[in-house]
Amino acid sequence: MRAESKRKILVTSALPYANGPIHLGHVLEAIQTDIFVRYQKTAGHECHFFCADDTHGTPIMLAARKEGISPEQLIDRVRTEHYRDLSGFLVEYDNYYTTNSEENRILSEEIYLSLKQRGHIAEREIEQAYCDTDKMFLPDRFIKGTCPNCGSPDQYGDSCEVCGATYSPKDLKNSHCSLCGTPPVSRNSKHIFFKLGDFEKYLSGWVESETHVADGVRKKLKEWFEAGLQDWDISRDGPYFGFKIPGEVEKYFYVWLDAPIGYMASSLNFFKGDRKIFDSFWKDEKAEIFHFIGKDILYFHTLFWPATLEGSGYRSPSQVHVHGFITVNGEKMSKSRGTFIKAEGYLKHLDPEHLRFYLAGKLGAGMDDLDLSFDDYTAKVNSDFVGNFVNLVSRVSTSILDKLDRKLGNLSEEGRKILEELKASESKIREWYETRNYTRVMKECSRLGDVANKYVNDLAPWIQIKTDVELARETVTVALNAARILSIYLYPVAPKAGEKVYKLLGLDKKPEFADLSSDLEETKVAAYEMITKRVEEKAIQTMLEENASQTAKPETSPSPKTEGVANLSEISIEELSKVDLRVGKILEAGPVDGADKLVQVKLDLGALGTKNVFAGIKAAYKPEDLVGLSIVAVANLKARKMKFGISEAMLLAAGEGESLSLFIPHRGAQPGDKLK
Ligand code: MSP
Ligand code: ZN
Repeated sequence: MRAESKRKILVTSALPYANGPIHLGHVLEAIQTDIFVRYQKTAGHECHFFCADDTHGTPIMLAARKEGISPEQLIDRVRTEHYRDLSGFLVEYDNYYTTNSEENRILSEEIYLSLKQRGHIAEREIEQAYCDTDKMFLPDRFIKGTCPNCGSPDQYGDSCEVCGATYSPKDLKNSHCSLCGTPPVSRNSKHIFFKLGDFEKYLSGWVESETHVADGVRKKLKEWFEAGLQDWDISRDGPYFGFKIPGEVEKYFYVWLDAPIGYMASSLNFFKGDRKIFDSFWKDEKAEIFHFIGKDILYFHTLFWPATLEGSGYRSPSQVHVHGFITVNGEKMSKSRGTFIKAEGYLKHLDPEHLRFYLAGKLGAGMDDLDLSFDDYTAKVNSDFVGNFVNLVSRVSTSILDKLDRKLGNLSEEGRKILEELKASESKIREWYETRNYTRVMKECSRLGDVANKYVNDLAPWIQIKTDVELARETVTVALNAARILSIYLYPVAPKAGEKVYKLLGLDKKPEFADLSSDLEETKVAAYEMITKRVEEKAIQTMLEENASQTAKPETSPSPKTEGVANLSEISIEELSKVDLRVGKILEAGPVDGADKLVQVKLDLGALGTKNVFAGIKAAYKPEDLVGLSIVAVANLKARKMKFGISEAMLLAAGEGESLSLFIPHRGAQPGDKLK
């Protein structure tokens, strides 16, 4: 362990995008960070927790336009909602700011100019898709078309969700602007680049250091180093919602340039603009900086970010902690299955502290994905939280204590030994909080709770009180002192519960590690108040149902067929007759390993035999529901080799995502029937 002098620690969670609600993935990250921060604070260190909304970029600009409001109005509203939801999970920020702030603009400009002055900025013309109708350059995600690899329609400009191929938007077939449906033109424009390659040596040194990232992350980074570090395009052409680049006309910083600087801006705002205090964190290696992020944004935080800081005279982060993704009942959060759980929906029906307790039990130091299984959640919360910790308190705090005038006595010899055993775990528990091995903290606390509960069971104060009141008082005194120790250990995870136990014991403060040795004897105990309830399974059901029914329809983009009438490309009747549409009956259907969107189907086409098809319909259909269904297929499509095997036909469907709907022939159609 580190020397126990007072440390200066600055901690951040990744900044949620201002174009969607807070969901359980964000909550997982916020809770993981908050536990760390609360631990550091209860350990007596100077620790600050900063976050903000990430407000810039094309999607936010367009979302505001769609609602008919200004981006500023949109991000103000969303920030209030985000802060409300995250705080609902007892996440305590020192500042929850916005990246669209004056502090952030100033810092972003300064950092950019400093990189430029040191020669780390380059300019280059690039060719990019431009929409003449919308008068804007189109980010890859705003271009849609047919995948050049597998022929699936309606794929994004950078990658195909059906076959997994990645490509340049130029290679997409029938490409069109997802906003207006017209085909984009290609246009040249000057872009500004950050020369990441200048920092190759610096970064590989940074990554090699034992403490900056976990082993799994280091491995991933080494692969990237081997592939070579490319220049990073940090500019976007207007119209764009963001900060203008100084010295340029109608060029804006790409959102990922100013987003991490938003961490700094949030702190500068908290320090009331005091650059000396600010520098004592961001320039002085004596302070520590921890970033908590998910695995999808590793590149930005472990390469671009340390390089940006190094190149502009700031220090690099002490640690970037990377966590995995949350799955719900074993599956990726999915809107169609009602498992895309918004923070707001959870809070309406369930206890935030239960989720903190449950997630802490599953969070380790690595970046493995983590499953929230509601059966497991119910079992763990009811047995380890309510049945163990809360029970230790409640069983001695009501009628027995009433009979004892609610007064504690002295500790017995045996009782002291029990408390010593509990206190002996302090250094382990601290080390595990420090290294974010919360699973181990929770296991240890369960074990200690068992020890204390067994002591109470063996002595049975509810029987003692009938024959020897003072003996019962002794037992209760030991039990509540044990509970006091556990409240300190569990406080970072379950702060409300810890505070309630403290209040019960007449302690008017938050639980802290420094209190560990102060046993309570001969003090008064307040009236017992419920600490936390058991999980009600009905509440989970209600939440999941409500969640499923509320799920907004996915955004569908206008296709050239519906809006850009002029773009309809006609085919002749001869061409049409080439397409052999047949009724097919699904004999088998199953998931495809490694492809979330695909279902593998065995199709009975009557006289044409059976064919194997990979269909991108999983968001809308469970494989098991497909078996026995008659559908319409293009039977004479040339077999295509896909990443997962050969696809020999195509199923016809309309719509997208979870609202996608297969064409079902009406009445008694037989496999192999030809469509006319
Ligand atoms: N705005 C960027 C971060 C900028 S930080 C300078 C962003 N925003 S996000 O809203 O998409 O994600 C915010 C954080 O939530 C990220 O760390 C991301 O990994 C995390 N999660 C988003 N979905 C998640 C899960 N399903 N599970 C766990 N965490 C995930 O990225
Ligand atoms: Zn357009």
